[in-house]
Amino acid sequence: MATPLWRNATIYQIYPRSFCDSNGDGIGDIPGIISKLDYLHDLGVKIVWLSPIYASPLDDLGYDISDYYKIHPDYGTMEDFEALVKEADKRGLKIVMDLVVNHTSDEHEWFRQSKDRNSPYHDYYYWRKGKEDNKLPPNNWTSMFTGPAWEYVPEVDEWYLHLYSKKQPDLNYHNPAVIEEVEKILRFYLDKGVYGFRCDVINQIFKETLEDGKGKSEQARGIEHYLMKEGNHKILQKFYEDVFSKQECVVIGETYNVDRENGIRFLKDHEMDMFFQFEVMGVDQTPSRVFAKKFKAESFKQLIYKWQKDIDWNANYLENHDQRRSITRFGDENRYHDESGKALGLLNLTLRGTPFVYEGEEIGMIDKKMGEPEDSKDVAVVTVNKIVKGYHLPRWFRRSLCNRLDRDHARTPMQWSNGVSAGFSSNKDTWIPVNPKQLDKINVEAESKDPSSVLCFYKEMIHLRETLPSLYDGSFVEVPTKGNLIAYKREKGEEVCFVVINLGKKPLSLASGFIPKGASVLISTYMDKKLPSFSLRPYEGVLLKVK
Ligand code: NOJ
Repeated sequence: MATPLWRNATIYQIYPRSFCDSNGDGIGDIPGIISKLDYLHDLGVKIVWLSPIYASPLDDLGYDISDYYKIHPDYGTMEDFEALVKEADKRGLKIVMDLVVNHTSDEHEWFRQSKDRNSPYHDYYYWRKGKEDNKLPPNNWTSMFTGPAWEYVPEVDEWYLHLYSKKQPDLNYHNPAVIEEVEKILRFYLDKGVYGFRCDVINQIFKETLEDGKGKSEQARGIEHYLMKEGNHKILQKFYEDVFSKQECVVIGETYNVDRENGIRFLKDHEMDMFFQFEVMGVDQTPSRVFAKKFKAESFKQLIYKWQKDIDWNANYLENHDQRRSITRFGDENRYHDESGKALGLLNLTLRGTPFVYEGEEIGMIDKKMGEPEDSKDVAVVTVNKIVKGYHLPRWFRRSLCNRLDRDHARTPMQWSNGVSAGFSSNKDTWIPVNPKQLDKINVEAESKDPSSVLCFYKEMIHLRETLPSLYDGSFVEVPTKGNLIAYKREKGEEVCFVVINLGKKPLSLASGFIPKGASVLISTYMDKKLPSFSLRPYEGVLLKVK
C-alpha cells in the first residue's frame, strides 16, 4: 500500500475568522482562504486543517455548532466551501475539517427538540433530574471552562450536562442514534472531498457514569468518569470500521490529558492516525493552570523526547488556536525573535510524526498585550474571570491569570503586511484587533523579501523535510545533552540526520566530537550554513546530514 499523504505532509492550521477577509467586514472568510492557497502551496504544506466554519452562534467561536450541514454566513456558503476544496485540490492541497461532536450548540435543532421530554431528541443529550428535590445539579462536576457543568431549564424541569460553556450541551453517546448522526456528518464531508477530520476533545465523548467526581476543583471535576473510557474506544473503533476504513483519509484526535497507555491504544486499534498530547504545552504552567511556571528548555526537551519515544507517530505542534504563541512562551520575542522562532520551527519540523504549523507561526507571530479580561472574545476567559472575581483576589492577579489563559493571543489577525489591519482586511475595524507589536517586521510581505526571515526558514525547512526519508519516516534517537542543548538523530536505512539546537540566550559550547565527523549542514537557523564545531550561538539550530 502506498504511504498515505498525512505521513509525509506538513499540516497547516487555519483559524478562518482570523486568516483573510475578502469582503471587508473585518472577519476572515472562505474566499479569503482561497485567495491565499498559492501562498500555502508555496510554503510547501500539503494539508490544511480548518477550525470550524459551520453554522454557529459563535459562543465558543464555532466550537458550538448549530447546523453541521451549513456554513456560517460570516465565512461564506456551501458553494464557497466546495470551491475551496476544488481550488485546493488543483494545488495538491487537501482540506481537513474540524469535527466538534462532544457537544453541539444549544441552538442546534436537536437540542431545541430535546427540551420536549417525549421527543426522541431528549435522549440525544444528558437531561437529568437534580439532587435534593431537583434544586441542586445531578452531580458535582465542573466544566472545562470552570464553574458548574449542569444547567437547569425551568420549562423542562431538568438539568443538562455541558462540559464546556452552557451553550455547548454534551451529546449522549449511550444513544446509538447520536453515533449514526455523527457518521452521517462524516460521510457528508468525505463525499465533498475532504481528506479527514481533526476531532475535537474526542477522548471525552463517552460518559461512563454520572457519579460525583473526586476533588474540589472548579475545573473538570468528574473527569475520571469520562476521560478515555472503554466506551470511548469502542465508538472510535466503530467510526473506523463504518467510515474511515473505506478510503484514504486522516483522523487526528484532540486528546486532552491523554496518557501513554491510551495513546498507544488509539493508534493500535485504528481509532485515530495521530493525536495531540497536552503535556508539552503544560511545561510553563502548574497542572491547574492557575500559576505560571518558569519555562525550562530542559523540561520541555524531556517531555518532547518522552512522547517521541513512547508513541510511534505523534501529531507535533507548538501552537494552535488555544495556545499562546510559542516564541513568547518558549523563545525570546524581544532580543532573539527571529532566532528563537527559527529554532522552534526547526524542532517542530524535524521530530518524528506529522508537523502542524498554526497560521502565523511561520512568520513568528507573538502574543498580544491584552486589555481587561472583560474585553476578551474568549468564552473560557470570560467564564474564568467571573469565577475568580467571586474569590476577591487582587486585581493584578486576576488580570495576569486571565491574560495567560486568554486564547485571543493566538487569534489576532494573520499579518500579511504592515498596511491597514495587517493586510488581513480592508476594514480598519476587525473582529479582534490586530497585534501592533513588531508588526512592521512580523508580516508576510516583509519576510518574503528577507531571505533570513522566519518565513523563508520555514519554507526551506518544509520543503527539505519532504526530500529526506530520515526526517519524514525515520526513527527518533535521543542524543543525551544537558540544559538548553537539544540534540537527536533521525535515521532511515543508510540516511542519518542530526539535529542540534541551542534553546537559550547564551552561546553553548559543544564537546569535541559532539558533531559527528564528516557531517554537512543542510540548513541552519542563522542561514549561514556554518558547521558548528565548538559552539552554538543564541538560539542557533542546525540540521546536519551525517550519512
Ligand atoms: C477544544 C477546542 O480546540 C477549543 O477551542 C474549544 O473551546 C473546546 N475544544 C470545546 O469545543
